[in-house]
Amino acid sequence: MNIIETKNLTKTYGDFTAVSDVNLHIPKGKVYGFVGPNGAGKSTTMKMFLGLTKQTSGSFVIDGKTFPENRVEILKEVGSFIESPAFYGNLSGEENLDIIRKILGLQKSSVADALDLVGLTPYKKRLAKKYSLGMKQRLGLAGALIGRPPLLILDEPTNGLDPVGIHEIRTLIRSLPQQFDCTVLVSSHLLSEIERMADCIGILNHGHLLFEGTLEELRQRAVLQGYPTDNLEDTFLALINEDNRQRGVTR
Ligand SMILES: Nc1ncnc2c1ncn2[C@@H]1O[C@H](COP(=O)(O)OP(=O)(O)O)[C@@H](O)[C@H]1O
Ligand SMILES: [Mg+2]
Repeated sequence: MNIIETKNLTKTYGDFTAVSDVNLHIPKGKVYGFVGPNGAGKSTTMKMFLGLTKQTSGSFVIDGKTFPENRVEILKEVGSFIESPAFYGNLSGEENLDIIRKILGLQKSSVADALDLVGLTPYKKRLAKKYSLGMKQRLGLAGALIGRPPLLILDEPTNGLDPVGIHEIRTLIRSLPQQFDCTVLVSSHLLSEIERMADCIGILNHGHLLFEGTLEELRQRAVLQGYPTDNLEDTFLALINEDNRQRGVTR
């Protein structure tokens, strides 16, 4: 069963098409990696799911609910992290999460649980403006997780993290479906970052979905098309370059 399905989802800005006839199938209870170079349309797609921007044409269903009719119902089920999350700099990490907790009507203990989950407990009293980039990313993730939503939409959550931070976040994301019985949609511009946490992936380039399936299916496709297979990042780049060549774009 799919928790998200899109049908010819399209978003244009003037005469520029950012997302073009995209048909995604995101299975429930899995980690789905949404991969593509910068500007591919990942954030735009995720923003549509969160009702932050409206599609130009096409449609999507989230857990049986459609947008815009059921926007509020959809948002109740989704925890999200979009680009650089905003916080109150003059409040501590703990206080920032407590604000979210109150809005969501959760128990007081949920703040400590969320801090623990992302490894911020030792820094909970520090002002958010004094947090490093990695700590801010983790606080953003804690805010997305605190309500234990059945669906998490995480836009480049490892952006700006050092290798240790990336590893920690990746391990956490990998564990979420089993731990909380949820589905995770996570984006990145690097397949190498996604491949160790995702069950399946969708590859986007210039708004077009080039591939959707498991990593094993991507490997099989690479073999068939004569792309490098020993390193999936190379497969990914070969796929993107071939698509760019066919589109006549040099990049
Ligand atoms: N509000 C906007 N107005 C015009 N163009 C936009 C807007 N938002 C995004 N774009 C363009 O849409 C394309 C896809 O952007 P985005 O979804 O942010 O890509 P990604 O997240 O994959 O890097 C980019 O070329 C970007 O410049
Ligand atoms: Mg983006």
